[in-house]
Order: sequence, then structure tokens, then C-alpha cells
Amino acid sequence: MSEKPPYFEYVRKLVKEQAHLEIGEQSAHVVDSGLAHILRVHGYNSVKEVMDSVKEDPASTLTMHVVESMTTKETSFFRDSHVWEGLRTQVVPELIEKRQATRRLSVLSAAAASGQEAFSLAVLLREHFPQLANWNVRIVASDISREMVARIREATYSALEIARGMPEHLRDTYFKKVEGGYRVIDSVKELVRAQRMNLASPNLFLPKFDLILMRNLLIYFDMTSKRKLLSRIRSSMHPWTSLVLGASETTVNIDHAFEPTQHGSFRCFSLCEENL
Ligand SMILES: C[S@@+](CC[C@H](N)C(=O)[O-])C[C@H]1O[C@@H](n2cnc3c(N)ncnc32)[C@H](O)[C@@H]1O
Repeated sequence: MSEKPPYFEYVRKLVKEQAHLEIGEQSAHVVDSGLAHILRVHGYNSVKEVMDSVKEDPASTLTMHVVESMTTKETSFFRDSHVWEGLRTQVVPELIEKRQATRRLSVLSAAAASGQEAFSLAVLLREHFPQLANWNVRIVASDISREMVARIREATYSALEIARGMPEHLRDTYFKKVEGGYRVIDSVKELVRAQRMNLASPNLFLPKFDLILMRNLLIYFDMTSKRKLLSRIRSSMHPWTSLVLGASETTVNIDHAFEPTQHGSFRCFSLCEENL
């Protein structure tokens, strides 16, 4: 068993309190690499110096950066192809019918990491739903990490990141080549608004959305935090809103206000009628 760094328990508790995330007993490397990142980016000389400052002011910006550096930010374009098939063939066409009168579509990409999910959706809408061109479409791409929010605003991805999931023909249509990679073109970028959002914050206010993607976040929460978060998400759903979770996530046996809907191999969750 690898030896835990001296500040492991302190950081673990901090991350749990502020972001509701569980760092497993065996995940000392997560704390190590998070703190190494803080040293590099914020110019501290030692981990001790960072931790002394954090302990002195647990509400400081540095403390928030430490918490944010501990999260797993793995993502890719069109991650889990069946999800995108389900969105394209079922969910989006139904939403367009539902929102025909208002011509507004509001989507939350929660815990969006560097934004590949939000831009995948924006590309999908531009590619397959030209009728949305004169609608008011807004995809809010949010994450707890300021670094990730800045990346979403930049909307620029390395060739490697693009190669992870973005088909070449869509890359050539919706990205332009820039130094160091590819930038999303303006007509796609304008659909996405980046916003910092801590989904564990007691002060979080969420408006209603027509579609919510919140994939690969609940897996890092314990049962109590999952319930709290799902009850908050519930209040930001219309009767027609679908909630899309990660492949190994569910509301079943966690929050009975939701019911799953299966579209082939794609499953999403909506509010049960008695909770509308
Ligand atoms: C594994 S990534 C998932 C990215 C994307 N949703 C996907 O499935 O490809 C998890 C993201 O959740 C963010 N996160 C962790 N805790 C959070 C919280 N309390 N509020 C908002 N975002 C959080 C992390 O910063 C990270 O970018």
C-alpha cells in the first residue's frame, strides 16, 4: 500500500465539505498530483507552504483552487456514442416539437470539464437541426473548476483532444485551425455560455432547463450528496426535461421522483408524473 502524503486527510475532508467529492483511501496520488499542479501554477515553493496558507484561510481563493485541482476532468467529444444517437434521434426532435411556440431551448451541461460535451451538442444541433438557426438556443457549460471554465471560454482544443471523438468531417466544418490546435467557429461557440458552478454549494440557484446533461459526476458523490444534488436538479426541470447521466450512473433507488426512459441503448431520466 502506498504511503499517504501528510496532508491527505485534511485535503480529503476539505474536498468533501466544499465539493461533496469522495477521494478514496487509496487515492493519495490524486492529492499528490493536485498539489503538484498548484505548486506549478501558483508559484509556491513547497506543498507545506500551500497547506499553511490553506489552513490559515480555508475560505481563500487558494483553497478553492486546491479543491478544484483534486477533481477528475476526463472527458472527450461525443463521449458514449449511444447517448448522442439518442439525443439526435429522440430527445432533441421531441424538444423541438415541445418548444415550437417559444422557439427557445435551454440546456445545462453540468460538470462539463473542458467543454467537449457542450460543444459536441452545439455541433450536433448545427449539423442536424438547421431549423434551430433562428431559435434562441443556449447551452450553459458549467464546472466547479475555474481552469475548466476558462478553457470552455477559449474553445480551443489540441489535435489530440480533437482526435478523441470529433469526426474529421465535423472538425473541418465546425473548427478552424489555429496555433496549437483547433478553435470552435463562432456560429457554434455562440450557442455555449461558460459559467462556474459548484453543484455542491448551498447557495446554488439554477433556473429551469429543457435538457440537462450531468454525466460522470454522481459517481464521485456518496449517497447523501447524490440525493441532495438530484433534489436540486429536480427543481430545475420542466415536465418535459430529460436528465442524462453517465453510463454507470442512475437515479434508481436514490431518488424516486425520477423515472428512467429507455430509447434503445440510451437511457435518460425524467420526473415521474406525481412529482410534476
Ligand atoms: C469526469 S468530469 C466529467 C466531464 C463530462 N461531464 C463528461 O462526462 O465527459 C467531472 C467534472 O466534474 C467537475 N466537478 C467536480 N465536482 C463538482 C462540483 N461540486 N460542482 C461542479 N462540477 C464539479 C470536475 O471539475 C470535472 O471537470
